[in-house]
Amino acid sequence: MLIAAPNLCLDITIAIPRLVPGSVSRATGTDTSAGGKGVNVARAARTLGGRPVVAGFLPRADGSRFTRLLDAEGLALRKVDVDGVLRIASILVEDDRRVTVINGRGADVDSTRWHRFTSLIVDAVAGAGVLVCSGSLPPGAPVDGYAQLVEIGHRGDVPVVVDAAPAALAAALGAQPDLVSPNLSEAEGLLFGRVDEQVDEVGEDIPLRAVRAAVGLHAAGAVRAVVTAGSAGAALCTTTGAWWLAARPVDLVNPIGAGDCFAAAAALALVAGAKDIDVVRRGMAAASASCEQPTAGRLDPARAAELFEKITAQTMDPTVLAG
Ligand SMILES: Nc1ncnc2c1ncn2[C@@H]1O[C@H](COP(=O)(O)OP(=O)(O)OP(=O)(O)O)[C@@H](O)[C@H]1O
Ligand SMILES: [Mg+2]
Repeated sequence: MLIAAPNLCLDITIAIPRLVPGSVSRATGTDTSAGGKGVNVARAARTLGGRPVVAGFLPRADGSRFTRLLDAEGLALRKVDVDGVLRIASILVEDDRRVTVINGRGADVDSTRWHRFTSLIVDAVAGAGVLVCSGSLPPGAPVDGYAQLVEIGHRGDVPVVVDAAPAALAAALGAQPDLVSPNLSEAEGLLFGRVDEQVDEVGEDIPLRAVRAAVGLHAAGAVRAVVTAGSAGAALCTTTGAWWLAARPVDLVNPIGAGDCFAAAAALALVAGAKDIDVVRRGMAAASASCEQPTAGRLDPARAAELFEKITAQTMDPTVLAG
């Protein structure tokens, strides 16, 4: 599995008793790890038996810090050097477990560097089995960056999964990615201009909204359009129909990164030739299992296998969708 993760970052998790905006806080603990959604995908893919390679841009000045952290986790990296400094995501965790995330801005990427990156993908995609485009694009990257990568994957006869922020995903749809898997907020943002983002969606109309969004993404070009909706489940639309799959309840520890585990497991199922509904069941099972772990991208594969058996798909009636 090749993971295009152009906007890599360093995750700095800082424990503080309480966040008081406008004041100085003293940390009670700090943890630094390689981050960015693509790194979560890589962690999950390796746990599930895949051989992931992460591809991204790294600043010459301080990129070695990221490389060392990724190395320590045994994850492979292919990189394009850039100027500037490493992007930092600051994750503030208070004593009451409330979490505040500040996503830093990445180093700028000019057209020469972007071209180097696409050349790297052309080279690395051969024999990769599947290409996963994960996360946001760095400043300076072309908005149709993921569309270019979908075309590269297809020229190399490799299926491409895109799990990206709405603007980057919207631009990729025309290139007909084999699987897209935004969450409900991202999908509705892309299709209907919705802007708020909830960590978990609530409401009785979620299955219908998710299926409608999946139908919209499929119509816009995605071969298999999945829309994930947190603890509620996920919707799928393909040329043969539309389905809602309810998630199984879990002992929730941390839902952050569930979508990345979904992308990893679904991509592996896709290369293994699983049926479309089973691709989604595999993705959901891994995603739900990851919610029982504290670290994004980690999961117990035995728990995922157990959840997979319990997830069922409900065919959605087209007349319900039309109403
Ligand atoms: N609380 C939960 N209980 C059970 N399953 C969950 C829960 N939260 C998420 N999941 C599973 O994970 C899948 C993906 O979750 P979600 O829609 O939250 O992704 P996401 O918003 O992209 O996550 P992230 O961006 O943090 O990676 C869901 O479709 C569901 O199968
Ligand atoms: Mg997501």
